[in-house]
Amino acid sequence: MKKKIAVIYGDGIGREVTEQAIKALDAVAEVYNHTFIYERGLLGAEAIDATGEPLPHKTIDIAKKSDAVLFGAVGDPRFDNNPAAKVRPEQGILAIRKELELYSNIRPVVSYKSLNHLSPLKLRNIEQVDFVIYRELSSGIYFGEHYTNNNGGTAHDVCTYNVHEIERIAHSAFRTAQQRHKKLHLVDKANVMETSRLWRKTVTEVARQYSDVELKFMYIDNAAMQLIINPGQFDVILTENLFGDILSDESGAITGSLGLLPSASLGSKIGFFEPVHGAFNEAAGKDIANPVGSILSAAMMLEFFNMPEEADLVKQAVSWTLNSGFVTRDIDSVNYYYTSTIGDLISDFILGKIPDAVN
Ligand code: IPM
Ligand code: MN
Repeated sequence: MKKKIAVIYGDGIGREVTEQAIKALDAVAEVYNHTFIYERGLLGAEAIDATGEPLPHKTIDIAKKSDAVLFGAVGDPRFDNNPAAKVRPEQGILAIRKELELYSNIRPVVSYKSLNHLSPLKLRNIEQVDFVIYRELSSGIYFGEHYTNNNGGTAHDVCTYNVHEIERIAHSAFRTAQQRHKKLHLVDKANVMETSRLWRKTVTEVARQYSDVELKFMYIDNAAMQLIINPGQFDVILTENLFGDILSDESGAITGSLGLLPSASLGSKIGFFEPVHGAFNEAAGKDIANPVGSILSAAMMLEFFNMPEEADLVKQAVSWTLNSGFVTRDIDSVNYYYTSTIGDLISDFILGKIPDAVN
């Protein structure tokens, strides 16, 4: 099969982790006789430096002509503490999500037996963790009006949702729950927020079409605690944009490192794949970042391409490296391997160059 993939490194460690994902994809292409054609686009601080804009038109064109986008990370400390900055790297990622209508952000969280002892959480609480967050990605407070008035004395960020926006991601989340353990938690703040009450009403309606799925409601504050004390209770978590952002970073603590978590953003015909972690600028260029989140995002891309066997092989390769102790510094600060070494090992596994590997 032939696929066109837009590659956007973005900022910080984006380039080095994405390069490892490409190694894995190239290995898959060789084993299964696929052709992956890559075209690079700019986004974030790298794009601001080159063109003055966080999301140049050219990048949108490249993405729209592709079957999928493989994205690295966005963010740069030069902009973080500068409230006067007119353009920000993060505007690039938000704009491309909107442009490609990526309303469904899927973030799976699984614990690895061999890494469980490294989690800050108690072992008995993290065994059997296997859930997926469905985060609404194209609306809510991220995309409401943002402005300051009253001579700079008052700031506003408006949170808006409509029924259609809630319904479409709810259907995706329920369909996934049907394929999994048939449990769905809607996480919201319906005791305070009007948008949350609309989520509850709409999701309750949608649930009638999925009577085999058990629907539960949980407030965001409680969910933040439940994820720490009993993450094994979750199967599918459905939530709005900002709550999903927060809960997905928290989930990084459960697995031992945020660097392990992948994501897929779906909605239109172009899929968008990126690790959950950020740009981690302090580590950029040092070959120490964890490439697993990016490589597993590439595996999600293969699933999206309808290549389940290929995706499984990549996941097996990742499990084999982790279970064999080939981990980066975020996971083991004493015995660690470099980003590129992990990428090489994973691609060698895929190519069958590690004959005695057991996973
Ligand atoms: C994420 C990131 C982004 C978000 C930032 C970089 C705008 O944290 O993908 O989770 O908040 O969505
Ligand atoms: Mn985030």
